Amino acid sequence: MQRLTVAVLGAGGLVAQRLQQRLVNHPWFELAAVAGSPRHLGASLEDVPWLLSEKRPMLPPLTVVDVSNPHTVQGLAEAGVSVAFSALPSEEAKHIEPMWVKAGIRVFSNASTYRRKEGVPFVIPELNPEALVEQSSGQLRHACATNCTLVPLILPLAALNKAYGLQRYTMRSEQGLSGGGHAYMEQAIEQGNVHPSIPGEAEKTEAELSHILGWHGEASLRCERIMRPDGHHVFVEAMFASEVNVEDVHETLSAWSQAHRMNHLPSAPHQPLVLTPTIDVNAHLFADGIGFPQSPNPAIERAAGMAVVVANLQCKTPNMVSFEAFSHNTIRGAAGGVLLLAELAHSMDLL
Ligand SMILES: NC(=O)c1ccc[n+]([C@@H]2O[C@H](COP(=O)([O-])OP(=O)(O)OC[C@H]3O[C@@H](n4cnc5c(N)ncnc54)[C@H](OP(=O)(O)O)[C@@H]3O)[C@@H](O)[C@H]2O)c1
Repeated sequence: MQRLTVAVLGAGGLVAQRLQQRLVNHPWFELAAVAGSPRHLGASLEDVPWLLSEKRPMLPPLTVVDVSNPHTVQGLAEAGVSVAFSALPSEEAKHIEPMWVKAGIRVFSNASTYRRKEGVPFVIPELNPEALVEQSSGQLRHACATNCTLVPLILPLAALNKAYGLQRYTMRSEQGLSGGGHAYMEQAIEQGNVHPSIPGEAEKTEAELSHILGWHGEASLRCERIMRPDGHHVFVEAMFASEVNVEDVHETLSAWSQAHRMNHLPSAPHQPLVLTPTIDVNAHLFADGIGFPQSPNPAIERAAGMAVVVANLQCKTPNMVSFEAFSHNTIRGAAGGVLLLAELAHSMDLL
């Protein structure tokens, strides 16, 4: 298969660099352009400070171009760039992403701006793949991945909803610093503390869950930032229409996970959920669906960090399930997730 020529929107941000890292050896996509803000304009990609803890991979010899210049974007389209992965802040995405779409480049976005907007499919590959066609009327031009906090909540809850009928749920999150972006993370580490509040995060997560699952019930969410570099950990209690017990819930989640493997896609985890008795936020960050690689190289080990870890399953009353779940926010919750989405679109002949 000939690789599609792609661009990354964002040069020196956490998600932009995760995208670059994951594209370096990608079998379906070839990184041909990096388009950044004025901060890095004209810089050689190898001179852009590398933020990720893994070593900088051997990136192609690119010069950062202007992400917001329509002539530049048109030139890239004419040169054969057909897909762009956006790691822009939401305010910038508002006017920049449509410019790329207008030039005929399909945009897959991590920004929140166009999530839940008419004509822009909003998709988690394992949950609503059909939306790629249905929400774009078969003309896919622009698509969005979800908020990173939603991922560990929705994957297990979707499986349980299907089996038992979700009635209401509560969620509390503990979210890593990288979820706030590079500058935020650096400042918190420098100060040695972080304010726990994340304005708008709970509302966004609740609305996105309702949209993806088509479920509209009672929910209560509280999202907090904590002093940990990466990884979002959620604590969930959910009430169901049917009676439940721990063994049955375990079996339901395992069967759902097996049935929702997407091993034909290069970025897919071996399976989406991993069940384990308790969560270790250090050891489980790079869950791949089979095990827990330690210090993997995401430029090669594409499944690492793509699975959601589910633990501490309990049924405190006959209709209630509580569990914890954990996933990597800049991998499954951002760069890996949006690449998986584009791979799904490619496998459906939509690119
Ligand atoms: N971090 C996560 O876990 C996570 C998860 C899901 C979704 N997201 C979303 O992904 C996006 C990027 O997040 P991040 O964590 O990578 O943030 P970040 O580390 O703060 O990086 C910000 C990015 O935005 C670009 N940018 C900043 N100002 C710009 C401007 N005026 N014009 C064009 N580009 C500009 C930067 O490009 P340059 O380097 O070229 O300046 C950089 O790549 C955000 O929309 C965020 O909400 C993040």
